[in-house]
Amino acid sequence: MNPGRERILRELGLGPTWRLRSPPLPEDGPVAASEVDRVAPAVVASGAAGLADWDRLAATVRDCRACGLCAARKQAVLGVGDRHADWLFVGEGPGAEEDQRGEPFVGQAGKLLDNMLAAIGLRRGEDVYIANAVKCRPPENRTPEAPEIDACRPYLEQQIGLIRPRLIVALGRPAAQALLKTEVKIAAARGRLHEYQGIPLVITYHPAYLLRNLTDKAKAWEDLCFMRRSMRQLKGG
Ligand code: URA
Repeated sequence: MNPGRERILRELGLGPTWRLRSPPLPEDGPVAASEVDRVAPAVVASGAAGLADWDRLAATVRDCRACGLCAARKQAVLGVGDRHADWLFVGEGPGAEEDQRGEPFVGQAGKLLDNMLAAIGLRRGEDVYIANAVKCRPPENRTPEAPEIDACRPYLEQQIGLIRPRLIVALGRPAAQALLKTEVKIAAARGRLHEYQGIPLVITYHPAYLLRNLTDKAKAWEDLCFMRRSMRQLKGG
């Protein structure tokens, strides 16, 4: 194993937080053609991403009764962050703390997500928007079912249309499937660019999964490097 990789693995295995390393990592080369899965120019409607659109969307989601998840929710959780962000992170659905506080990823998984963001020089709310595939908490934190994801998809689609991010990061399988509308296996799908309506999309492990499977943190680190590299290229850097 090369010393750089060994160092990264050591730090990931031992450190409670992932720290930003400012010089480019050895993995930071250009994204190879083999890592690109059909990326076309962005075609998401540009429309005026005005306050009124967001207000309307927030009101619709707040009162939504399109699926059974509305029955047990305290509140719907639309999303949080910079509405003009280059980065959009999409998770699965709110858990108990998110349902309580009305913000995505505020529990343990959220802490890890914040650390993952910090590792590539990002902060929640600064050029980053965080949303979920479903806006209401599934009971017992179960995985949202396909009809629930389908019922909620228009809201995620509207968010993407308003934000028009440069890069979408799908956190875990339900998020990836909600966006790509196809079966996804993370192990096979990670490490290359996919596409959502012309917007490049990368897939990585869900932070809650990483909390349970420490050995895959090294792969998640590779994914973070890949997404940072991809963003640099998307910005023409
Ligand atoms: N897990 C998710 O997928 N989303 C959240 O908001 C919290 C935990």
